[in-house]
Amino acid sequence: MNLQWFLVVTILVNLQCSGFSMTNFMNSDENEQKSKHSAFWTRRDFVKDIIDSKKQENQNIINVDHFGANGDGSNDAKAFMEAWKKACKTPQSILLVPANKTYLLNPPIRFLGPCKPGFIMRVHGTIKASSNLKEYEKDPILPRTWVVFYQLNHFTLDGGGTFDGNGQVWWETSCKVNNRPDCRTDIPPKAVMFNESMNLKVMNLRFLNAQQMHLTFDNCKGVEASNLLVIAPEESPNTDGIHVFSSQNMNIKDCIISTGDDCLSIVAGSNNIRATNIRCGPGHGISIGSLGKNRSMDVVSDIHINKATLLGTTNGVRIKTWQGGRGYAHNIRFEDIRMINVTNPIIIDQNYCDQEEPCHQQNDAVQVNKIVYKDIRGTSATDVAIRFNCSKTFPCEDIELQNVHLFPQRGGGVKTLCANAELKLGGYVSPGLLCN
Ligand SMILES: *[C@@H]1O[C@H](CO)[C@@H](O)[C@H](O)[C@H]1NC(C)=O
Ligand SMILES: *[C@@H]1O[C@H](CO)[C@@H](O)[C@H](O)[C@H]1NC(C)=O
Ligand SMILES: *[C@@H]1O[C@H](CO)[C@@H](O)[C@H](O)[C@H]1NC(C)=O
Ligand SMILES: *[C@@H]1O[C@H](CO)[C@@H](O)[C@H](O)[C@H]1NC(C)=O
Ligand SMILES: *[C@@H]1O[C@H](CO)[C@@H](O)[C@H](O)[C@H]1NC(C)=O
Repeated sequence: MNLQWFLVVTILVNLQCSGFSMTNFMNSDENEQKSKHSAFWTRRDFVKDIIDSKKQENQNIINVDHFGANGDGSNDAKAFMEAWKKACKTPQSILLVPANKTYLLNPPIRFLGPCKPGFIMRVHGTIKASSNLKEYEKDPILPRTWVVFYQLNHFTLDGGGTFDGNGQVWWETSCKVNNRPDCRTDIPPKAVMFNESMNLKVMNLRFLNAQQMHLTFDNCKGVEASNLLVIAPEESPNTDGIHVFSSQNMNIKDCIISTGDDCLSIVAGSNNIRATNIRCGPGHGISIGSLGKNRSMDVVSDIHINKATLLGTTNGVRIKTWQGGRGYAHNIRFEDIRMINVTNPIIIDQNYCDQEEPCHQQNDAVQVNKIVYKDIRGTSATDVAIRFNCSKTFPCEDIELQNVHLFPQRGGGVKTLCANAELKLGGYVSPGLLCN
């Protein structure tokens, strides 16, 4: 174990022993202030409120307040829509959402393009969703979404402000949390989605307490997502941080994600996705998939996860596919990853089954091949640090591990469980591997 890594572990252990709690400090601004000096997950490094004032000079500033937005707890959706329409067709415009105010936007919110290329929406303040479940029934599209940005090209969303999904009312009535007779089985709305858009920049923002997934990219091409802080309680169901669906050429970097589900999930139809410097936890870790659900044909390829820290997550880096699916997960590289007390640090599960009825044995499978794990180190919360659970009929191929060192969080030992995987080992790999 090198010295640097030893120090990280020591600092973390000390923080945990001194009553340091991730979930608590990330839930409110007030708590965030207190923890500015801790080694991990400080807001200051990540969400910057930088506005380039020179650049802003030649721009047409369109302020939502001038369209009647109040930020006083009444629904400001109408004012936002009018301001958006005006800004969208004005060349070189910035749609401004002022600081220090909270604007309630009742669903469905549809920020529709196309707009003039170079259009910027600058959110300094807070945009908040309704806690009234009835409001969501007005959304004509199922499954529902609170805010959708649709068909934009060369669009930037930034400003240091916040999108708050106000999701508690969804979580506490979800059957996933409390199986009461009156619990809800319907899927809660996604919070913020970019749909069918190109050349996007989404940066310097906070996404809090989503009803379901926080930030979704659906059919987008050319995305830079950076300096994002995404936070919801560990117990909030299905609140993925960043969800990538059917999108290409994305660069996700410098994000802190702490939610009740996957920090980052990359699913069907996604290709050429890079994620760099992601701090994740608590949550379910970084996932490719699930793929192949209900016998679907899903492909994901050319994914590079580089520099990530996973703290107290249920999975570290995971590839999950359902039996009976088709397609592939190909050329996926996990590199320079630190794990701290992660339940399943490295996992490929081709027998994924997240439903009530048991999944029965099927021959078809999503092919998993050319997967690299390089420079992965840290601690496992359980004794199985590496699990490759691959399909008998479509074994995992070309799985390469290079300099992987996982050790137990609490003492004892860690091991690998492996079925139907073709492995290549390089450098130092521990725990050792044998695969049937
Ligand atoms: C918002 O509040 C901060 C701190 O009180 C203050 O410095 C800043 O000028 C305010 N901004 C606006 C636009 O009111
Ligand atoms: C995203 O766009 C697709 C294609 O137009 C459409 O079918 C889908 O309903 C949209 N999703 C949302 C949430 O608007
Ligand atoms: C599964 O796929 C079949 C055939 O494509 C479709 O008819 C069915 O509705 C799907 N079931 C679910 C639960 O999505
Ligand atoms: C490690 O994770 C386990 C299981 O999630 C948890 O019970 C334990 O408190 C954690 N240990 C530390 C030091 O955080
Ligand atoms: C693989 O998954 C199946 C189904 O969850 C389980 O029964 C089996 O024990 C797992 N094998 C390994 C090696 O983890």
